[in-house]
Amino acid sequence: MERYLKQLPLELQGIILRAQEISGRLDYKAYLVGGFVRDLILGVPNFDVDIVVEGEGLKFAEELCKVLAGKLTRHRRFGTATVVTHDKLKIDLASARKETYSYPGALPVVSPGNIEDDLFRRDFTINAMAISISYADFGRFVDLFNGRDDLAHKRIRVLHDLSFMDDPTRILRAIRFEQRYGLKIEPHTYRLLTRALKCNALEKVDKQRIRDEVILALKEKEPIKYIRRINRLIGFSFINPGLKKLKRHSFLHLKAAEKEIAWFRNKFVRKRTLDAWLIYLMVILDKLNKREINLVCKRFAFRAGEAKRIICYKSIFKDIDKQLNKKNILPSRIYRLLEPLSYEVIILIKATTDKERVKKHIADFLNIYNGIRLYVTGEDLKNLGIEPSPYFKDILAKTLYAKIDYGLAGKEDELAFIRKFIKKNKRTLG
Ligand code: CTP
Repeated sequence: MERYLKQLPLELQGIILRAQEISGRLDYKAYLVGGFVRDLILGVPNFDVDIVVEGEGLKFAEELCKVLAGKLTRHRRFGTATVVTHDKLKIDLASARKETYSYPGALPVVSPGNIEDDLFRRDFTINAMAISISYADFGRFVDLFNGRDDLAHKRIRVLHDLSFMDDPTRILRAIRFEQRYGLKIEPHTYRLLTRALKCNALEKVDKQRIRDEVILALKEKEPIKYIRRINRLIGFSFINPGLKKLKRHSFLHLKAAEKEIAWFRNKFVRKRTLDAWLIYLMVILDKLNKREINLVCKRFAFRAGEAKRIICYKSIFKDIDKQLNKKNILPSRIYRLLEPLSYEVIILIKATTDKERVKKHIADFLNIYNGIRLYVTGEDLKNLGIEPSPYFKDILAKTLYAKIDYGLAGKEDELAFIRKFIKKNKRTLG
């Protein structure tokens, strides 16, 4: 395996050599494991290094953090740690351990073990390979379950028959790896997976672990492939009983959303960020009513900001779609309708509306109106003798709307508008 390691980017090779040094100093055996080894063999770039040591993982992590001058986060509950280097490379460290599960979906009971135990607790053969980085046998490949052969034959295979019952999130993981690398769940594993589904294994897992898996899947490069496969194999009732299988209509929306996401990213590279996974999730949940969506957000403990965006789409789509479809709508009105919404919600409205006029108005908002800024500031208003007050904000907003509608050219035009506005207001107020 040394040949593979030598092909790694130099910064990763440097980290591995430092880890080797520490393993010698502490007299611990150390191994690269998991997804890092899988991707190394596949030739897929992966900058998340996973190291398991036969010894104290936390101590090893502290030493590695020192020599790399990185940042250490300890996960004491799991006896693991993460070091992040200056270049944002991530190294996960853990002690080799044995795991036993007391019931399906339970958190495992953990006890110290060796590398063989540690590999045996893992999900699939392709994720259960290790490479020694200790001095004594640097580069030795540990492949107890023929993961390399399975990779070569594009197979996903569990290590034992209880794997999906021990940890039902592996059902979703199997589909994720299958779609990501173009693999196939081999027949015996497939039978075990469907058997676990029949036992409602997914219902037994902590909802937050399911949420994290779903988010990871929706963050994959081609999430629709994954959604399609899950739909065929499982359906989405594990999220809510009302969802069952998505129909053609949902896939049309997913496709349209994908197109709009690509448009947005292409247009606003680096300027504006978009949580695309939220958009796909909103489409999946769209069949549910507001109350049910609220419940999903609570049960799966989505963060407040995420839940707000997910529920928002459901609440406002019809109204915004109707308002934006009005003839001769002023640009400032478009601005006021869309500005309070998240980009995720705006993009999904653009994707799912059947009205060309609405699409056009949204594109104008994103391309033009949303980027318009005033030259005048609060300081300028104070100089005009206006005291800071809610009126202050109101004047600035009105000026911005006028600029959007009539294109006030520069600071002088804006000030002229404000003076006129104040005069008129004084007259009407009294
Ligand atoms: N693992 C497991 N069962 C799980 C989660 C993880 O056995 N439910 C093991 C696998 O060996 C996996 C390793 O822990 O390779 C690291 O997990 P994770 O970082 O989630 O997965 P990666 O394989 O690194 O996948 P990704 O490329 O998506 O990060």
